[in-house]
Amino acid sequence: MMFFSILTISDRSFSGIRPDLSGPALFQYITERGHNVLCASIVPDDLNKIHDVLLEWCDTGENDIILTTGGTGFAPRDVTPEATLSVIEKNAPGLPELMRLESLKKTPHAALSRSVAGIRKQTLIINLPGSPRAAVENLEILFPLLEHAVELIKNDPSSEAHH
Ligand code: MTE
Repeated sequence: MMFFSILTISDRSFSGIRPDLSGPALFQYITERGHNVLCASIVPDDLNKIHDVLLEWCDTGENDIILTTGGTGFAPRDVTPEATLSVIEKNAPGLPELMRLESLKKTPHAALSRSVAGIRKQTLIINLPGSPRAAVENLEILFPLLEHAVELIKNDPSSEAHH
């Protein structure tokens, strides 16, 4: 069982103009598969605010995976990748490469996601796009890899069995 937290990054959802549908969609996807969601929160598209939550959630040591949703595009306020890069100690480029590779089969707009992923301490952070459909589609692409990724990050001896 893996422990997730979900951070929705959206000015409009933070200010209540638009309901957050992506966070709950990710929550449902994770819990339906028997995993736990420890925290779910919404912040505006503000680099320092995103940075602070990511840092806090990594440094508790309780989260295996933090999923962010939103703020990965080309708009001036889209700063989720920059905030993530300011927190991670190791980059994990294969995960967004795979998300874009698979998503491009559905829409050329997948090339407009600047999503990054990386590791801080024992936590993997993954940026997902902002729309509920795109967020779940991208999580679906990575899901089969995540348990092994978490085992490797924790240096779990059983990870060898998966090679
Ligand atoms: N990936 C998938 N699988 N399906 C999608 O519909 N939408 C794209 C892309 N990735 C999409 C997708 C679009 S339209 C954009 S602009 C980028 O994700 C970035 O989204 P964000 O700015 O909401 O993070």
